[in-house]
Amino acid sequence: QTIYLKDYTPFGYRIESVDLTFRLHPTATRVISKIVFAPNPEATDKRFFLHGEELELISATVNGDPITPRLVEGGLEADVPEGPFIWEAEVEISPQTNTALEGLYMSNGMYSTQCEAEGFRKITYYPDRPDVMAVFTVRVEGDLPVLLSNGNPVERGAGFAVWHDPWPKPSYLFALVAGELINHPDTFTTKSGREVELNIWVRPGDEDKCAFGMEALKKSMKWDEDTYGREYDLDIFNIVAVDDFNMGAMENKGLNIFNSSCVLTSKETSTDANFERIEGIIAHEYFHNWTGNRITCRDWFQLCLKEGLTVYRDQMFSGDMRSHAVKRIEEVMILRARQFREDNGPLAHPVRPESFVEINNFYTATVYEKGAEIIGMLRRLIGDEAYRKGCDLYFDRHDGQAVTIEDWLKAFEDATGRDLAQFKQWYSQAGTPRLKMEESWDDGTLTLTFTQSTPPTPGQSGKKPQVIPIAVGLISPNGDEVVPTTVLEMTEAQQSFTFEGLGARPVASVLRDFSAPVILEREIDNDTRAFLLAHDTDPFQKWEMGRALAKDTLMSMIVKGTKPSFAYLDAIKSVLVDDGLDPAFRALSLGLPAQDDLAQSLFDAGVTPDPQRIFEAREELRHLLSAHLREVLPALYKENETGAFVPDAEGSGKRSLRLAVLSLLSLRDEGVTARALYKRADNMTEQAGALQALLSAGLGTEELQAFEAQWKGDRLVMDKWFTMQVASAVPETAAQVAETLSRHPAFTNKNPNRFRAVFGALSANHAGFHHESGAAYRLLADQLITLDAINPQITARMSGAFETWKRYDADRQDMIRAELERILATPGLSRDTTEMVSRILAA
Ligand code: ARG
Ligand code: ZN
Repeated sequence: QTIYLKDYTPFGYRIESVDLTFRLHPTATRVISKIVFAPNPEATDKRFFLHGEELELISATVNGDPITPRLVEGGLEADVPEGPFIWEAEVEISPQTNTALEGLYMSNGMYSTQCEAEGFRKITYYPDRPDVMAVFTVRVEGDLPVLLSNGNPVERGAGFAVWHDPWPKPSYLFALVAGELINHPDTFTTKSGREVELNIWVRPGDEDKCAFGMEALKKSMKWDEDTYGREYDLDIFNIVAVDDFNMGAMENKGLNIFNSSCVLTSKETSTDANFERIEGIIAHEYFHNWTGNRITCRDWFQLCLKEGLTVYRDQMFSGDMRSHAVKRIEEVMILRARQFREDNGPLAHPVRPESFVEINNFYTATVYEKGAEIIGMLRRLIGDEAYRKGCDLYFDRHDGQAVTIEDWLKAFEDATGRDLAQFKQWYSQAGTPRLKMEESWDDGTLTLTFTQSTPPTPGQSGKKPQVIPIAVGLISPNGDEVVPTTVLEMTEAQQSFTFEGLGARPVASVLRDFSAPVILEREIDNDTRAFLLAHDTDPFQKWEMGRALAKDTLMSMIVKGTKPSFAYLDAIKSVLVDDGLDPAFRALSLGLPAQDDLAQSLFDAGVTPDPQRIFEAREELRHLLSAHLREVLPALYKENETGAFVPDAEGSGKRSLRLAVLSLLSLRDEGVTARALYKRADNMTEQAGALQALLSAGLGTEELQAFEAQWKGDRLVMDKWFTMQVASAVPETAAQVAETLSRHPAFTNKNPNRFRAVFGALSANHAGFHHESGAAYRLLADQLITLDAINPQITARMSGAFETWKRYDADRQDMIRAELERILATPGLSRDTTEMVSRILAA
């Protein structure tokens, strides 16, 4: 059943208060609810329907009188009085057998919840929709030492705890946690003097892995005060780490729940990338307190209202904490790898979709990452001050409400006097705009002519011109910047911009800081790219030019069988040895485009991608780089050694450069350097980095065994062990490696992290996944069919591995189609997976 944005109607009732009692039991938890409803004067539809799934109704009363509600598809209906009334019900649920990890479930003996988007209906009968906001009081009864819920603690006693959340919230922000947990405590005093108790709750044994997360939380709280004027609003803020969790983390009011992989850290077990990501996720969930919780979404079509904005906020936070240049490059890599990929295939959808079957399938790169890009464009167009003014107005106007994208944009229209009607198309039009640029030069005047067009996407053929902010700078032939960054505002299908009074013809640096999520098409030769790589003042464009050189080199190697030019190799070398540049930036410049990215570019150029050929070309280039750079690698390796491990921008930058160098070095020294580092490493960044360098040189068998022996007791580190093997497997063995690992005693498909560690890695191993035997397609389909009965959300998400199938040759397409049809034919296949696989097949 498809749900449409245009069909929105408000619920017929308001909720004045919610009282819940939980009597916890692994297989027979009782949930007793008392809800005071009153008619909603703004609603015309007075049907009293409460969502409910997988609930056993024990009893129900209205104003104390027992009633027999009509059980209907997805919930119940009842006849209720015209005025305010009290609804009471008791239901029974079974957390222990809840392997979908949605609603109330058990993970390693502890109780936990995940209610976004529609999990609360698996806890009790309720209007489980974000526009119904209510004040909750929750009593948790259970024979466990720690009993948590949202809001402030009211009462604690033997075997129970009562929590009250004074802030009205939708049911998706409800949370409950119970178990044997230990806290890492701290405090934070808000700008206006509120003392807040902070805790990170973990299972015994993990209490020494909370310090970094706690610092990240305090920095986030401070940053939101300083940057957005937003303070925390309860006496307590709890974070809990849970091992079995579908996503990264969840912003439940006052009780954030995290996948343990997204909060626990130690230098021995976490890499620099883990530290950086965790800092960002803690910030993200905390920032939701205002962008998501205090102001929430009217309906799930507005998901980007909270997610795009909150991603944008966490990106800016990370930039402030670390390096904006490095962060921006990383963001663009992710955007291109996930969102552009999505936009180019059968799953393309607008940032604000117009319909869905299962909302969990729309927690996508488009909603999150492109949603964040839209906020960035808005800010670039109106300026920092107006952006802050608009945000302030939005917070003032809508605090306590469930609102829409229209409300968000209206705040900016009112704050700036600007018409955002055309800009709004970014929310409704799917697909990545292609931005073509032509240049002409005439006697001191440079004219840049841009033409925009967006290819059709499923259900959307005719695309309209969008508002595109194009950040441009000009560099003179001697390398000086003659025109600093200027934002051109493109609104037409074709538009020209001129720069007058120039001396010599400058080189244009276009789409600086990646000012819009578009694909820039521009006639540019490799000499010009090398020139910009050397002279551009914009770090993103500087990196982009190196990346374009590498891509062009690889594309010609693949298509024409040419050898890389010395110009390219030398350009990369000069960046690498330029110690005026940030080591993190140099490491990023040494990276090659991903195989999946090359496959898409080949397809766009009209060439059917051959995954094996792409893999070989990339390997060949790694070897050539390693040879060309042989004289500088050892010195770089030495120079970038860090002292005591500190997971900050500086230390991690040096380590990333050093490990990128090590990976090339290992192709030449039979792994001597990497093996030495592996033995000596006192931190996971270097230990895993050394092991990866060995594996990508076809070495490391012994170290792999040693790694397992050392870390078999640590789930999160073992996930890395699983992933590394699948990721580094050569194309012809990748499926076999994954299959063997799926029979390892430590493998389980009940833990999403572990499943992803193996099968997420398999689908990310481009040449392995697309090996001509079709073995990986079959294996993944087998696994997804089994997993669907256990965890539909993860199954549906992982089926996205097939979304690019139309790029490939007829044999591969036939094999993939057969697997997709086989999945779809599975009796009882979930709604989640059915929707995803059908959309992919419809391509
Ligand atoms: N709101 C969470 C976050 O981005 C994500 C929760 C998604 N959950 C889901 N079942 N789709 O921070
Ligand atoms: Zn979020």
